[in-house]
Amino acid sequence: MKNIVVLVSGSGTNLQALIDAQKRGDIPNGRITCVISSNPNAYALHRAKENGIGTRIIVPKEFPSKEIYTKALLEALFQEYADLIVLAGFMTILDPDIIRVYRNHIINVHPSLIPSFCGMGYYGLRVHEAVLERGVKYTGATVHFVDEIADDGPIILQRPVKVEPGDTPEILQRRVMEEAERKILPEAVALYCNDRLEVRGKTVVIR
Ligand code: GAR
Repeated sequence: MKNIVVLVSGSGTNLQALIDAQKRGDIPNGRITCVISSNPNAYALHRAKENGIGTRIIVPKEFPSKEIYTKALLEALFQEYADLIVLAGFMTILDPDIIRVYRNHIINVHPSLIPSFCGMGYYGLRVHEAVLERGVKYTGATVHFVDEIADDGPIILQRPVKVEPGDTPEILQRRVMEEAERKILPEAVALYCNDRLEVRGKTVVIR
């Protein structure tokens, strides 16, 4: 059984999708053991508590340096015996020290079809604003392993979503969450926990 630690910063829709999948028995070889929030007011914390999941609050700006913040976060991950770390709407870029320790054990969900609309500056609603400005007909979501470059790691799963006439960033965000993120994140976590993911260079092979 793998210990899953979920890192959040906001509303926790993706955390909820993982909790629901766990309750349905769709992640038989993993359990969410802790939720760590970078934001003390994140609604995600409420979702965790309602479901009996332990929580920690580690706020980057409360530390004198990124190095000391990174040490505190690593310490928490060790204390939780984390096997898998899921970034579910987590808005802090992880330090390379954390990536080195947990390479191919950190999964992120991003609300576009990587490599479009991703990297520095593309997060949350901004991604959907950029999608609408560019006028693409399809967007979607991606789940990938995290490496040292933002949104650049090996891709595990992707799902396309149609952009409809009259979409606002908020409407599109909701559709991407409901039709893509909510499905592929629990699926990728289950695949990881079942030891089905093999990373070969930039490619993830699903065994
Ligand atoms: C989600 O759409 C997630 O993909 C995105 O922020 C939202 C968080 O929602 N993450 C990023 O943009 C990271 N680059 P949630 O807190 O309700 O899951």
